[in-house]
Formats: sequence, structure tokens, C-alpha cells
Amino acid sequence: MTTKNIIYLFTALLITVTLLFVLSNYFTYKNALTAYEDSMKLHALGIALTLEPTLSDILNRERNIFAEIIKEGRWEGIAYIALYTSEGLTIKHSNENLINKKIDDDLIKKALKSGEPVNGYLILGTGENVFVLNLPTFVEKSHVVLRVALHRYPFENILRQARFQALSSAVVVIILWITGFFFIKALKQSEALSKAIEERQRLALLGEISSRLAHEIRNPLGSIKGFAQLILEEIKKLTSHSQDLEEYSKIIIKEAKRLESLTDDLLQYSRIKESKPETFDLKDLILECVNNIKANINLKKVDFRLSNIDSLFIETDYNKLKQVLINLIYNSIESIDERGFVEINYSQKNRLVEISISDNGCGMDEETLKNAFRPFFTTKAQGTGLGLAIVENLLKAIGGTIKLQSKAKEGTTVKITIPKNL
Ligand SMILES: Nc1ncnc2c1ncn2[C@@H]1O[C@H](COP(=O)(O)OP(=O)(O)OP(=O)(O)O)[C@@H](O)[C@H]1O
Ligand SMILES: [Mg+2]
Repeated sequence: MTTKNIIYLFTALLITVTLLFVLSNYFTYKNALTAYEDSMKLHALGIALTLEPTLSDILNRERNIFAEIIKEGRWEGIAYIALYTSEGLTIKHSNENLINKKIDDDLIKKALKSGEPVNGYLILGTGENVFVLNLPTFVEKSHVVLRVALHRYPFENILRQARFQALSSAVVVIILWITGFFFIKALKQSEALSKAIEERQRLALLGEISSRLAHEIRNPLGSIKGFAQLILEEIKKLTSHSQDLEEYSKIIIKEAKRLESLTDDLLQYSRIKESKPETFDLKDLILECVNNIKANINLKKVDFRLSNIDSLFIETDYNKLKQVLINLIYNSIESIDERGFVEINYSQKNRLVEISISDNGCGMDEETLKNAFRPFFTTKAQGTGLGLAIVENLLKAIGGTIKLQSKAKEGTTVKITIPKNL
């Protein structure tokens, strides 16, 4: 099974577990809510039905029996008890101050109309939300409503349990997701690591094959080039020689030289020599690289910008850094089609030296940028695609790093960082 499939499966599992938790808690909470309301209803109804037969007696007494019941604490959780006429006039109330007040209450009207007990919630003057049960009944031949109001908190235990269960489930789900997140992250990291190891092994094998092949090709190639040169000289000595033969010999020599430079690159890529640190001025090295390149190819199209560089003495492998710079400068020159510039700068940061080589050439698209360091990756007809792979290896040998910044059609900046003292 691939890592991707494991991640999909694991995520699906997490989502399923989460959904199951959510559903189970939803139903548990819903049931708890019903049980909570039922328990208040039963309690209030019990009180109301117990009081109902004694209502006419209560009505005729001077004493406030309702207030006494609450005070005695015969039943738990009563907020108030009241008796209303069908017009909403309060004829008895556990709170003396509210007797003879008229109220307009839908629950009372509903209870009278249906002839059944009606319950609901009300907000008291104190701001407390209470449960009320309204029992319609007859007292002395007139319709009345007996109301029992209950505080909710004594009954909230059932709800508290359900809430606690929901909270614990939420914590479990969060822990599962966090564990899942780290598991997936670790899985991805281990996959990336094994890919990197595979790639390294592949490159090592490639290097080994390249170096063997280069070795095998070098000797016969030397003979081919040498004999072609001899043939060319012999042809030139003939007074009436064929122009074609001379041209063919030149082509053999040119192509042999090209192959020779390829084998040089291959050997260089696979075998980086030991570093020999020496102290030199970076400015001199850069000027030497630029002058070497200028001497080798016709560079009318390129404007070298080197005005910002000052002397900076560093201690590293001179030849390796020179090869790095030459490769990078060549890449910049080759990216310029008609006219353009190559700018070289450097600066020192603590014990590191950062050298940047910028150009306004063709730049790289995302695909090229991703593959630029792969051996044999090239977008050029005459390129071997080993330049940046060699640069990377050389920099590794002198403790350096390289970063490419590039935008297609705009240009490229290559930044290398090396220790000032190797
Ligand atoms: N400065 C640059 N501007 C635009 N593209 C670049 C630049 N440097 C590198 N590239 C891209 O990266 C590819 C790989 O570069 P690399 O130097 O490894 O090989 P190459 O230049 O193609 O061939 P070689 O250097 O072996 O002759 C190039 O073919 C090119 O597409
Ligand atoms: Mg190159």
C-alpha cells in the first residue's frame, strides 16, 4: 500500500470516528434534554395534583399556604406557586406582593382552552429562567389555573452528565486528530527520506557508471583525435587535395574535442578531488574568471557589471570555487539571447561569504527550476546538463550551498554561500 493510500485511509477513519462521536453525542444530548424536561414535568405535576384537592381550603384561608409549603421545603426546587382565575387575576401566590395582580399569559390561556396541563419556560423579574406547569382545574365552580414554577438547576444533573460526555468525546476527537496529524507528518517525512536515499543511491550509481564509461572512452578518443590531426596535416601537405577531405577531418577533430569535454565533465562530476584551502582575493578570482571567459568566446552581447566588488580575502579551494563561478557565469551568458547583463556581487555575513550572479536572460520556468540540479538535465541543444550538478558537488566539498531564484523571461539570480575560511 502506498503512503498516499495509507493517508487517505487514515483520514477516512478519523472522519468516520469523528462523525460517530458527533452523532452519538447529539442523540445522547437530545435524550438527556427530554429526560430533563420530563423529570421537571413529573415533579411539578406531582406537586400540582397533590395540591389540587385542597385548593378550595387554601383559597379560604387567610394564611399564605403556598408560601408555607415553599418555606417548609416539602418539595425540592419550587420557585413559586400561584393560582389564577380564567381572566388571569392572581388570587393566590407564594409571593404576597403579587396577589390581585392581573397577568396576560399565553400558557394559562392555552391550559384553559385545552383543559390539559401545559408546561413551558418563563423568565422571572430576577432574570432567572424557570420551568412552569399550569394545571387547569375547578375551584368553587369557577375555572382556575394552578401554576407550579420550578428552579431548573436541581434537575440539570442529567444535562451536566451529557455535556461532560460531549466534552470528553470532543477532547478524545481532538487528541485523535492531533495524533493523526503527527502520524501523517511522520509518514510523509519518512517517505521523503526514503526517496532522498533512493535518489542518492541512484546518483552514486550514475556517477560510478559515468566515470567508468568516461575512462573507457578517453583513450580511444585520444587516438581518434590524434590520428585525425595527423590525417589533416597529411592532407594539407598534398598539393592538390580535396577540400571535402580536409573538412571531414576537421569535423572529426571538433567532435572528438566535444566528446573529450563531455568525458572531462563526467569525470569531474563523479570524482571531486580533495580540497586544498588557500588564501586569495575573491575580487581577483572573479576578474580572472570573467577574463578567461571573455578570451574564449565572443561576448559582444553581454555587459558585465562588476562595479560593486571590493577586495575580500577568503580561504578556500581556489580551483573549485573558480570552476563553480565559471559554470554559473557560462549559464548566465548562455541564457542571454541578444543583449543583456551579468552582474556579480558579494558580501560577507559573519563567517560566511555570499556571492550572487544575476542575469536578465531567459530565466527558468517551474519545471526547469525543479530539475536544474539533476545530472544530464538540460534545455540546451549543446548542453550536457552536468554544469549545476558539478557546481553542487564542488560546493558541497567546500562547505557551501546554492540557491536559484528565477522567473521565465525575466532572469535568474544564483546565490552561493561559502565559509570565509574553509
Ligand atoms: N542562468 C540561467 N538562466 C536560465 N536558465 C538556466 C540558468 N542556469 C541554468 N539554467 C537552466 O538549467 C539547466 C541546467 O543547467 P546546467 O548548467 O546543469 O546544464 P547546461 O548548462 O544545460 O549544460 P552544461 O552546463 O553541462 O553545458 C540549463 O539547461 C538551463 O535550462
Ligand atoms: Mg551549464
